[in-house]
Amino acid sequence: MTKQQHARGSMAKENRTKTNKLVLPQMGKGLDVGTAFIYCAQKINSQVSFRAQRDAFFDVEYSEFTQGILEKSNVKYVLGQDKIYVVGSDAMKFANVFGGNTRRPLKSGVISAKETEALPIIELIIKSVLEPPAEKNEICYFSVPGPPIDADFDNIYHQNIIKGFLEKWGYQAKPLNEGLAVIFSELAEDNFTGMGISFGGGMANVCLSLMSAPVFSFSVAKAGDWIDEQVAIVTNEPISKITTFKENFLNLKKSESSMTKTEHALSIYYDHLIEYVLDQIKKEVEEKGKIPEFETPIPIIVSGGTANPQGFIERFKEILGKTSFPLKVKEVRMAPHPLYTVAKGALIAAIADRKRTN
Ligand SMILES: Nc1ncnc2c1ncn2[C@@H]1O[C@H](COP(=O)(O)OP(=O)(O)OP(=O)(O)O)[C@@H](O)[C@H]1O
Ligand SMILES: [Mg+2]
Repeated sequence: MTKQQHARGSMAKENRTKTNKLVLPQMGKGLDVGTAFIYCAQKINSQVSFRAQRDAFFDVEYSEFTQGILEKSNVKYVLGQDKIYVVGSDAMKFANVFGGNTRRPLKSGVISAKETEALPIIELIIKSVLEPPAEKNEICYFSVPGPPIDADFDNIYHQNIIKGFLEKWGYQAKPLNEGLAVIFSELAEDNFTGMGISFGGGMANVCLSLMSAPVFSFSVAKAGDWIDEQVAIVTNEPISKITTFKENFLNLKKSESSMTKTEHALSIYYDHLIEYVLDQIKKEVEEKGKIPEFETPIPIIVSGGTANPQGFIERFKEILGKTSFPLKVKEVRMAPHPLYTVAKGALIAAIADRKRTN
């Protein structure tokens, strides 16, 4: 551990607020490594606190002068051969000013093969939300997507690289399926029995669990990014414009007749995404003969940034109602903080693990 890391580490152990209140972080952290955002959850004074960073970067030409300015302005960056890569939310600011799109170190939930600088960039983004371990081998659970059922890749390389970063930093790192993290976060009162779905940026993740044991889990490579790309094509608008509109203004409760062309296209692709995910769940249950016999109907928890717009849960329930779904459903609930659910679930897993091993 470097001197600086050590100093930050001890600060994390015991700290005081301006009002001289003692700040006591509990051991164990949860990390959601997502295609669009990276979130960290930790418990401080029995409250869960979150830190988030956009999982994106933007390159500018290298010059000593520019590097100096970025350094002074506390902008996070990585040096490439003759480029400077600005990372996180600052990348969005640069993209808006210079015109152009940010790039992503992850694609469809895993490290992007197309981005040669992806590894140092992800490492820096993770370090910007995750403090150094507050004790040697502090447990950190990190999310990984389930096996993709409609794409030709696995998550083994991705999982090992992220684990390696965290271990190098002094954590005891453990992977956690993203859908199961949703269940850990929201289904304690149901004895961790039910279905968790995370509609993210690169993927939608699904897990069905009985008392915290996964019956099955999988991911599909269609989610928020796919919606943005398709809507950009049919409306002939830049993707970033569609994303900004979707994140800030989309209301799926609006009547079709009062929708603009962009809203209508977003609405069509949202419906398609929900239908597609429910179809994949049906296939998983029926075709593979995995119909589990639950004693009582199960709850379904919906989470993730793509589930955030107003009216999403109503759309989901409406489409589920029209589907001959193979499982008896007690209720469909939106997670209270859909963007933070996976990080919170990973934190719960870390705290439970620490209690077990102590
Ligand atoms: N307020 C919002 N309304 C609508 N969409 C949103 C909102 N905030 C974020 N999004 C969208 O949600 C997606 C990101 O969600 P999330 O942070 O859950 O994904 P991720 O975990 O980074 O990705 P993945 O799980 O697929 O690897 C993006 O498509 C983003 O545009
Ligand atoms: Mg996610």
